[in-house]
Parts: sequence; structure tokens; C-alpha cells
Amino acid sequence: MLCLILFVLLVILLLIKLSKTYSYWTERGVKQRKQTYLLGDNGKVFLKKESFFDMITSIYNAFPEERYIGMYQGLLPTLVIKDPDLIKNIAIKDFDHFTDHQQVIPNGIDDVWAKNLLTLKGDYWRQMRATLSPSFTSVKMKMMFTLIAETLKFYEDYLKKRDHTESIELKDFFTRFTNDAIATVAFGLKCDSINNKDNEFYLMGKDATNFGLKRNLAVFAYLIMPKIASFFNIKIFPTKITNFFKNLINKTIRMREENDIIRPDMIHLLLEAKKDGFELSDETITSQAVIFFFAGFESVATLLTFMGYELAINPEVQEKLQKEIDETLKECENRNLTYDALTKMKYLDMVINETLRKWPTLATDRVCTKYYKIEPIQNEKDIIIQPGDVVWLPIAAIQRDPKYFENPDKFDPERFNEKNKEKIKPFTYFPFGLGPRTCIGSRLALLEAKIAFFNILKDFNFVPCEKTEIPLKISKDSFGFVPQNGLWIDIKPR
Ligand code: HEM
Ligand SMILES: *[C@@H]1O[C@H](CO)[C@@H](O)[C@H](O)[C@H]1NC(C)=O
Ligand SMILES: *[C@@H]1O[C@H](CO)[C@@H](O)[C@H](O)[C@H]1NC(C)=O
Ligand SMILES: *[C@@H]1O[C@H](CO)[C@@H](O)[C@H](O)[C@H]1NC(C)=O
Repeated sequence: MLCLILFVLLVILLLIKLSKTYSYWTERGVKQRKQTYLLGDNGKVFLKKESFFDMITSIYNAFPEERYIGMYQGLLPTLVIKDPDLIKNIAIKDFDHFTDHQQVIPNGIDDVWAKNLLTLKGDYWRQMRATLSPSFTSVKMKMMFTLIAETLKFYEDYLKKRDHTESIELKDFFTRFTNDAIATVAFGLKCDSINNKDNEFYLMGKDATNFGLKRNLAVFAYLIMPKIASFFNIKIFPTKITNFFKNLINKTIRMREENDIIRPDMIHLLLEAKKDGFELSDETITSQAVIFFFAGFESVATLLTFMGYELAINPEVQEKLQKEIDETLKECENRNLTYDALTKMKYLDMVINETLRKWPTLATDRVCTKYYKIEPIQNEKDIIIQPGDVVWLPIAAIQRDPKYFENPDKFDPERFNEKNKEKIKPFTYFPFGLGPRTCIGSRLALLEAKIAFFNILKDFNFVPCEKTEIPLKISKDSFGFVPQNGLWIDIKPR
């Protein structure tokens, strides 16, 4: 009997605690949706009943008049910022109040994953960013151009030789290419994952980026009970994978130093930075190479996959792009594409930008590092964001908001022509984030996309096949835009 009373009491206490947790925003006069205890707004995502995109879009649309909306990631209060001017203030003007990204895995669990540019905080981040930035200038991209173009050759050969009895699953095809591009650029390793499908680097990368239920659970454990999860030292990434990357970089660095090998890639640039007196241990270099891999693998593959899809179902866009490609090639000596000619192409730029508008990274975040008051307008209450509070900038929801982009589901590169470009409201288009913490690899990403599509489209067309889904179903099993049943397209000679 006593036990029962104690149990009921405990449950009541828990419920009181939870109702307090879930009134964090309403108490501050911020609107929020009805909450599911323990799971918060992302419960359905966690249970795979809803895609991440649908979740964030329905929060975004829940209160059309509000400039910001409260939500909960599990138990964690998070403010979704909708208003473009507020986004500008948080990410740019008042950046020193929001210098960090949300860190899910605490320090000391997986150091390779915790000490990279994306997760570093405050001054450490600032130093690292300053050290790494010189590796991503246009001059450096010109060096990478040749490495990436060499990699693409494998894919051109594959397309030329393959028989056309089967269509191509674009996500797989382009994931292999981005894997090889990052391998050559960030790890100094030449891979050919399209002709040598089971090479070790590809399998490791795929394993590391594949978030199955087990890894989802681990992430969720850190979200709702970080102390307990830390105590049990729950690893998100298997030690096998971490060690693979560590050993690979270790071997590469030693080989370069012992044999004076110079190869124009990221490892070389990082080793040069070290010579210039920046403090970069081998471990730090490994962490950065690993995050370049992570940040640049799925994101670029997603861009390429959806661009291929949109070209296949919008043949007039594809033809116009091929015209620009043919003209560019005519002007290049020996029909040998140069970096300058490629980066000058206008329509290619428009098509890529429109793909990044419609199919971007879903959101980015900032963590408040210094008290911040959102100045009220109209009948808003004063709201103070406290250190530790998380804010989300909902990139995809904004870029698909008909208020800013008419007929948002339509793929229309003309939104970015000289005339229309001016009409885009500032801070409603930011596929690479914005402010000092914007994507460091955007130039590299755009370069990969340009090389891939230039070289494929000069000889091939993307065409729909029987298995092509129109409209496309998006997987509920992932944090980004991922086709649920694969994305089947044929790539045929022109
Ligand atoms: C189309 C491809 C890509 C997209 C859409 C993308 C998008 C983004 C976004 C939205 C952010 C957060 C920015 C913010 O919070 O303001 C980010 C950060 C970052 N990205 Fe990318 N990215 C792409 C490719 C790459 C590549 C190829 C690399 C490889 C070097 C990379 C490395 C990073 C890093 C290191 C950060 C963290 C920067 C920091 O915190 O200082 N990304 N990216
Ligand atoms: C690299 O390997 C060598 C020899 O196994 C070892 O002495 C060194 O500490 C390693 N460095 C890193 C950063 O793991
Ligand atoms: C093509 O241009 C690159 C420099 O951009 C040069 O290294 C290469 O030798 C050229 N190839 C041919 C066939 O002209
Ligand atoms: C495409 O977007 C990039 C930034 O992501 C920008 O620098 C470029 O000017 C845009 N191009 C066009 C044609 O709008």
C-alpha cells in the first residue's frame, strides 16, 4: 500500500515537473503547439511517424502572425525564429550573443566528433575558423578543381560503359561521387566508389553517416537525459569507425612528412597552417577532416540528387543549361574546361541556387551565450533569451514560404536571374546559413556541383523512367530531404 502511495506521489511530482518544463514558452508569452509529455514537438519524428521537414513546417505555419514560436526537442526548449530581420540580428548583428551551435554529444565522449569546427565554442571556435578559412578561398578552390575533375572521370567512364537495361538510383550514384570528392580533397585519398563499390573508405563513411534506430536512440538519450547518457558513456559512433579515420589521417600525415609529398588538398593546407605556427595537433587535424567529411557528404549528395531530379522533370531547364555548357566549352582552348570558365557560368549558378532553395538543409541552430532581449513590436511581450537556450533558423520552411517565394514548390531558376534576384527579400534565402558561422565549405560544395553537372550534361541527359516518382515521397527516416523509395532516373547519351 505504501509503495503504491509513493509511486502515485512520484508520478504526480514528475507530472508537475513536466508541466513546468512544457510551459517554459507560454510563461514567457511565446506561442507554442500542444505538447506531448517527454517527447516534445519531435516525438513523431523520433517515432518515424513524421518527417523532420513536416514537423518544422507545421510549427512554422502554426501561428502565421508570430515572429517566433516556442517548441521543445524532447525536454529542451527551443525557439524557432521566423522573422527575417530577427534572423539577421541573431546570426549577424548580435552574433556575439549566439556564437555557438547546439552540442548534442557532450565533450569527453567522442573527442574526434566533439572538437571540430562545427561543435567548437566561443574563442576556440573563432581561432579554428580563422585557421581553416584560408583553405577555402577561391585560390584554394582552383587547386581542388583538378582533384575533383579527376574523380569525376570515373563517373563519366561508368556512364559511358554501362548498359541501359537499368535506371540509376541518383542518391546512391551521387553519394559515391561526393564520397570520392571529399576523400581526395580532405583525406588525400583516391577512391573510385562507382567502379569499386565496396572500397573500405566508402563503407566506413556510409556506416558513419547512416543514422539507424540505435544511433537515433543514442542521440535522443543525450537530448532528454544528457547526464545519465554521459555517465554510461554511450557512443554515437562505433569506435571502429573513429579509429579508422584516426589511423588514416595519422598514416597520411606521417607519409607526407617523411617523404616530402605535396598534394594540393586540405591535409596539405592544414599541415602548412601548422608550419605557420598555428597550434594544430594531429588529433585536431583529424577532427577537422572528419567534419569536412560529415558536413560535406550528405549535404552535397542531396544537392546533386535533387538537381538531377529537377533537370529530368524540367527538360526545358536542362536544355537551356546544356546550351550554356556547349557555348562555354566552345570558348575553352582544346575544349578543356577551366576553373574560371566554369565559375563564370550564369545559368548553372541559377539552377544550383534554385535547387538549394527548394531542397536545402532543413534548419540550422544557435545557442544563446549571453542574455538577449528581443525588442517587442506591437503586442508582443518582452522576451529574454537566456544563455543555454537554443534557437532554430528554419531554412527550408522560409525558402518554401509563399510569402517570399511565389508558387514555392515550382522549380524555377528564373527566380535568380538578374532582374528577379533583386526582388528576393533579404534573409529569406540562406541555404548555407549566415553570419560568421555560415558554412565554411559552400565554395567547395558549389564547385563539386558545377564540375559534376557540367561534365555529365555535356554528354548525357537526365530523363525520367518508369520508377521515377512525381511528386516525390520524402522519407520519415532522416533529418533531411531524402527520397523515401530512392530516386530513379535514367542518364542517357545526348
Ligand atoms: C550543398 C552543400 C552544403 C550545404 C547545403 C551546407 C549547409 C550548411 C549549413 C546550413 C551550415 C550551418 C550554417 C549556419 O549555422 O549559419 C553549415 C555549416 C558548416 N558546413 Fe556546410 N553545407 C554544405 C557543404 C559543406 C561542405 C562541402 C563542407 C566541407 C568542408 C561543409 C562544412 C561545414 C562546416 C565545417 C560547417 C560549420 C561551420 C562553423 O560552425 O564555423 N559544408 N553548412
Ligand atoms: C600516430 O601513430 C604513431 C605510431 O603508431 C603514434 O606514435 C602517434 O601518437 C599517432 N598519432 C596520433 C595523432 O594518433
Ligand atoms: C587543360 O587545362 C589544365 C589547366 O587548367 C592543364 O593542366 C591541362 O594540361 C590542359 N589539358 C589539355 C588537354 O589541354
Ligand atoms: C547564388 O547563391 C550564391 C550564394 O549561395 C550567391 O553568391 C550567388 O550570387 C547566387 N547566384 C545567383 C545567380 O543568384
